[in-house]
Formats: sequence, C-alpha cells, structure tokens
Amino acid sequence: MTNPRFTVYAPGRVNLIGDHTDYAGGLALPCAIDLGVTIAGIHQPGRVELQTDALEGNVVLDLGTKHDVASIEPRWGRYVAAVAQEVRPSQGFIGSIESTLPTGAGLSSSAALEIALALAMEFNGSQMELALLAQRSELAAVGVPCGLLDQLSIVFGRAGHAMVIDFADNSIEHVAFPEDLDVVVLHSGQERQLADSHYAERRASCELAADRIGPLPKATIADTNTLDGDTRRRARHVVSECERVRQSAVALRENDPTTVGQLMTQSHASLRDDFQVSTPVLDELVDRLNITPGVYGARLTGAGFGGCVVALSDRGAISDPNALSGRGWIVHPTDGARRKTI
Ligand code: GLA
Repeated sequence: MTNPRFTVYAPGRVNLIGDHTDYAGGLALPCAIDLGVTIAGIHQPGRVELQTDALEGNVVLDLGTKHDVASIEPRWGRYVAAVAQEVRPSQGFIGSIESTLPTGAGLSSSAALEIALALAMEFNGSQMELALLAQRSELAAVGVPCGLLDQLSIVFGRAGHAMVIDFADNSIEHVAFPEDLDVVVLHSGQERQLADSHYAERRASCELAADRIGPLPKATIADTNTLDGDTRRRARHVVSECERVRQSAVALRENDPTTVGQLMTQSHASLRDDFQVSTPVLDELVDRLNITPGVYGARLTGAGFGGCVVALSDRGAISDPNALSGRGWIVHPTDGARRKTI
C-alpha cells in the first residue's frame, strides 16, 4: 500500500522438537523463523478494512457492531473479528497483509496473523498477554483448543536463538543456535486444517491420561503402562517427548547436533506410532532427509496431519531444499513480533 503509517510483523515458528506437549504442561524447543506476516496500514475511525494477495476475499469489520465470529466470510475474517473482540481497539485501520508463511503448513500462520492483527490494532499489554490473547482468538475464530507453543515462540523469538519453553509455568530460556548448523523445512504439499483434524481428540486423550496418572511431564513410562490402548500410546508420546526435549536442550547447548538429530528422528517415530499424527508423505520426507549427507535428523513439525517436516543439518548440506520436496526453506531463528510506526 502507498504511504502506510504503520507496519507490524509477526514471524512464524518452527518447532525443533516437543510437539503435542504444550497443552499437557510439557516442554518444547522451537524458534521464530524468517518467514512471516506483515500488515501495513493507515489508521481510520470505526472500521478495519483488509485485503491480501495471500488469501481470498477482502475483510471489512465494523468495530461498533457485535459479530458472530464463527459465521464470518471469508474465513480469515474470523481471525480479524476474534482479535478485535479481544483488543477492543479505539480506532480501526485500512491495510494490507503480506505473508511469506505458507498457510496450513505447521509453521503457525494463524498465530502469526492473530499476533500481527493485535499489534495493528495497537494492543499495548505485556508480551505474555499478547500470546494469551492470540490463543483465545484461535479458539474463538476456528474452535481449535491449541496450547501456547505457537504464540510464545512468535512473541518471544530472539535472533540466533532457539528457546526451551516449559509450559508448566510458561517460562522461556533462550539457547544460542550454533552458527554452523542449518534448520531445513520441507513442505509435504499436504495442507492441513487443525479444526478438521483430530487435534481436539488428541488433547482430550492426554487430559484423560493426566486425570489417571497425574501431569504427564512428571510421569514415567512405567506410569503410562497402567493405561489402556490409545490413551496409553498418547501418554507415552508426551512423557517420552518431554524427556527428548530435555536431552535436546542439553545437547544443543553443548553443540552436539548428532544427539539432537537422533532425538528429532525418535520424536518423529513417536508422533507416527504413538501419537498417530503423521502421514505417509511426511514419513517419506523424513526418511529421505535422513539419508541425505550432512543431515543429523528430521521430524514432522507442529500438529502433523500434513504440513512440514524440519531437519537439522550441517550448514550448506542442503543447498536447494525445493529440490527435495517441491517446496522448502532454510530458515533462520529470528526476533519476535514487532510494530513499527512510520
Ligand atoms: C499446533 C498448536 C500448538 C501445538 C502444536 C503441536 O501448532 O497450535 O499449540 O499443540 O500444534 O505441538
């Protein structure tokens, strides 16, 4: 847009290890990445008007009216309405959205959009409040009972660092990411819709398990053996995944990519066999990456059911990620979301 008065930017995130642990109060090791959502705009009273080339349709939201969020079309307007309900902005804006983040790919495009929208609506609370607001907006907009992995990664990202998040108390510890390593992300070509997937069902299984054996991040594999069938498998994933995150954090600090890579590949097996959120295409990409020279390990990243895989490799080991899957990126850990007034 010509002569915008502000721009906001929210990065996506890639989770190196620790999936389906956040809503169980567990651990994860993500980073914000250099693919993201930018909104440029000019303030105006009373209305938010947005257009984007990334998604179909334009959104016009009257801020004085109460909206039935779940029935707004185009669908991405639901995020705008849900965030507006939370922020209650004193003025609107007219703007455009540009995104380098693929949607439905497990790289947190919806959380990035929500956080960018909240900043565009001049949200001025704390960073933690911003993350919590975006989480509530996701539930209101598309009914996904997500954890806080995406929002915390996007808000608290730091250039050159990954972060260990402990969802027991949402504490964050940044860990320098070794400069001689690459984070490779490959798209499976399978777009997934979290709301349509079995995300809520998986979360409910973890809650059932926790009711029986206590908080999963503190439970042992022996504890999970007292559970039955699917509940046992889901709990076993969370318990083992939290342990893999602990070990990965130590290995990353010690610049031991071999161990981190092995843990990532074990994480994929657990997500495939115990949590059952992988697909044959994701499995195939992980296998292909694992036989590529210079790659330490690979796994699906995010919720699964399609989307992307992430791999850790020596710097430059994969010079053309597109050649491996049709669509891929070498991503770099970046700073979190920010607002810029012009
Ligand atoms: C999605 C959710 C997150 C998290 C991941 C799986 O990205 O939004 O809260 O549960 O799936 O780790």
